[in-house]
Amino acid sequence: MAEPLPQCYLNGDYVALSDARISPLDRGFLFGDSVYEVLPVFAGRMFLFREHFDRLARSLREIRVENPHTHQEWRAILEQLIVRNGGGDMYVYLQVTRGAEFGRNHAFPVPAVKPTVFVMASPLPVLTEEQRAAGFAAITVQDFRWGRCDIKSTALLANVLMKQQAADAGAYEALIVRDGEVLEGSSTSVFIVANGVLVTPPNSHRILPGTTRDATLSLATNVMPVEIRSISLDELRAADEVWISAATRDVLPVTSVDAAPIGSGKPGPAWLRLREAFARLRQQLADTPVYEP
Ligand SMILES: Cc1ncc(COP(=O)(O)O)c(C=O)c1O
Repeated sequence: MAEPLPQCYLNGDYVALSDARISPLDRGFLFGDSVYEVLPVFAGRMFLFREHFDRLARSLREIRVENPHTHQEWRAILEQLIVRNGGGDMYVYLQVTRGAEFGRNHAFPVPAVKPTVFVMASPLPVLTEEQRAAGFAAITVQDFRWGRCDIKSTALLANVLMKQQAADAGAYEALIVRDGEVLEGSSTSVFIVANGVLVTPPNSHRILPGTTRDATLSLATNVMPVEIRSISLDELRAADEVWISAATRDVLPVTSVDAAPIGSGKPGPAWLRLREAFARLRQQLADTPVYEP
């Protein structure tokens, strides 16, 4: 993984990331009492801005933290950070915590404290053509997360352990299974292609509503039939294609699950079509004027 870019934003100021400091009493640190977003930037333009900030607003509402900024303010903060880090392709990570009080109490501070707002930028992960052409290995893991996986919470210990389990097995992603149903990856949404139909599970409290998932579904409707329904573990193993999606990596082909090949064991034709559609969408974005605050 490449190092983050040098400038970050912390509570109203742009500072060098190496100089940024928050209190150890911050509830994000003490309790994981915070939410986050990850948003890709292509040619200096933010991709799916509204979708990411609608989801942030929803996450904040669900944990009862007042959104510290309007969409317009968020846009201006991020645009400035992108410019300060040289523009181009990157991704932005932002986190809002409930803030810090003097002490450690589980219940919310009364009166409320100011939320901590942190934003940083990083280079996009590099995936080579060879890696994409070979596809990615996944393992399956049983779900041991909490009951509100629809909130984009930074309390990600279960996801961290699952991803490490995948890494230990030489795989790229851990696909999470609950009650025999495949829900999503540790940091990705999941799809299968079976009998020419693209299938992804419905959003629920067990799944993070993926922005790239939704973009994939709308691109796919021009290409193939789409169904939103649960996917059994057996269906996953027997699928012609398996894909995973995430904001910084768009859609990737999974070519083996638990060391057994998926379909031909190579990225499938439907994925290749979707990948081209994504590339066209990114190009369209790059051709739009850069936002000027
Ligand atoms: C658990 C989980 N599911 C799905 C996703 C994909 O969401 P998005 O496409 O908005 O990046 C993520 C991304 O971080 C995730 O952590």
